[in-house]
Amino acid sequence: MGKEQKSPDHVAIIMDGNGRWAQKRGRPRLFGHHAGAKRVREIVEACPGFGVKYLTIFAFSTENWKRTQTEVSGLMSLFRRYITKEARALRDEGVRVRFIGDRLRLDKKLQALMDELEVLTQENDKVHLTIALNYGGRDEVARAVKRLAQDVAAGLLDSDTVDEETLPRYLDTCVLPDPDLVIRTSGEARISNFLLWQSAYAEYEFIDTLWPDFDAELFGEIVDRYAGRDRRFGSVDTAAE
Ligand code: FPP
Repeated sequence: MGKEQKSPDHVAIIMDGNGRWAQKRGRPRLFGHHAGAKRVREIVEACPGFGVKYLTIFAFSTENWKRTQTEVSGLMSLFRRYITKEARALRDEGVRVRFIGDRLRLDKKLQALMDELEVLTQENDKVHLTIALNYGGRDEVARAVKRLAQDVAAGLLDSDTVDEETLPRYLDTCVLPDPDLVIRTSGEARISNFLLWQSAYAEYEFIDTLWPDFDAELFGEIVDRYAGRDRRFGSVDTAAE
């Protein structure tokens, strides 16, 4: 990478295509989710080398409850197992883990594991991994507005002062920078309710590769491509004037 190039500080990924990956192999969808979970560690480990400090991944959406009972419960047990199995390695590798989404609808055991992993890794600062679990962008904004309205009603916030700096303080992502780059795998060009507010100025990359085939090399290529891009946040490029 050249000197003038800048890696994305925060990359968000919609990990799509696990089901099709399994189907292509004549296996059940959960087989694809397990293969997808194995990729997560590879991508997290690759982040520091590519200059990526924040990684946010979409693991389960508020819409995913509509899947079959078998798939939903299989995914929930995969998340429980993943957290239990990976906790120490994540802590030892300097990864700080956070969860976003409405965790109150998740089972109590999973909620407890999520809370424990956040506490276990809270001193870490090498990579900030945020896992979106029972997450929906509209749901997040609605929950944020509810809390904001409660603060106004309680006299803690003056409604006249509410502006676009106020709402993000109530979002699940309040301590995170906005994503610079959002990647979606599996050839679908949709954002599916992911980080709606936060991605206002993000670059998007829609990649044909199915998530279980997404490796560190491909991740690096995408990051490099981003680094060569020119972003102006709606203003003109002053260097070109
Ligand atoms: C989308 O593929 C993927 C999901 C709904 C689940 C994502 C979960 C993982 C990658 C598993 C592990 C994550 C963690 C954090 C342990 P799809 O099922 O919609 O695929 P399809 O579009 O081919 O059907």
